[in-house]
Amino acid sequence: MALLEILKFPDPRLRTKAKPVEKVDDELRRIVDDMYETMYDARGVGLAGTQVNIHKQIFTMDVSEKGDERICVLNPEIIHKEGIQYEAEGCLSVGGGAFDKVERALKLRMRGMGLDGKTIELEAEGLMAVCIQHEIDHLNGILFIDHLSRLKQDRIRKKIDKSNRT
Ligand code: NI
Repeated sequence: MALLEILKFPDPRLRTKAKPVEKVDDELRRIVDDMYETMYDARGVGLAGTQVNIHKQIFTMDVSEKGDERICVLNPEIIHKEGIQYEAEGCLSVGGGAFDKVERALKLRMRGMGLDGKTIELEAEGLMAVCIQHEIDHLNGILFIDHLSRLKQDRIRKKIDKSNRT
């Protein structure tokens, strides 16, 4: 296994739209192992392929307290959304201590493919629902800060510029 480099905003590669995974093979399984290792190492609860410059529709997630509930979804698709929640989000790809509330669905139903190539359906709410929406955004080239006001985005960009200079 290996740690992968996490792309940081404003890297334009974060804007790439990921392509569907067609088949699960050893190479893909190795990528997923590396993504888990990278996600745990960075203390993230989710990681999308896009963030490690792998433009395939893959994300890994573990929202458990102990860090022992791995979920990997290929070609994820939200098929139902319900309610609204505003939880503060951060992102491994956005520095500058950026952390802010984003409007998300409270509950959702997701369909995708598991590593065994079989279709999976999953219902989620709360933090897991936030994480799924955040990671699927990444696969579409969208960052959580895109959902914030222009003013907040400018503030975050300035902080990041400042920390890159020092
Ligand atoms: Ni993120």
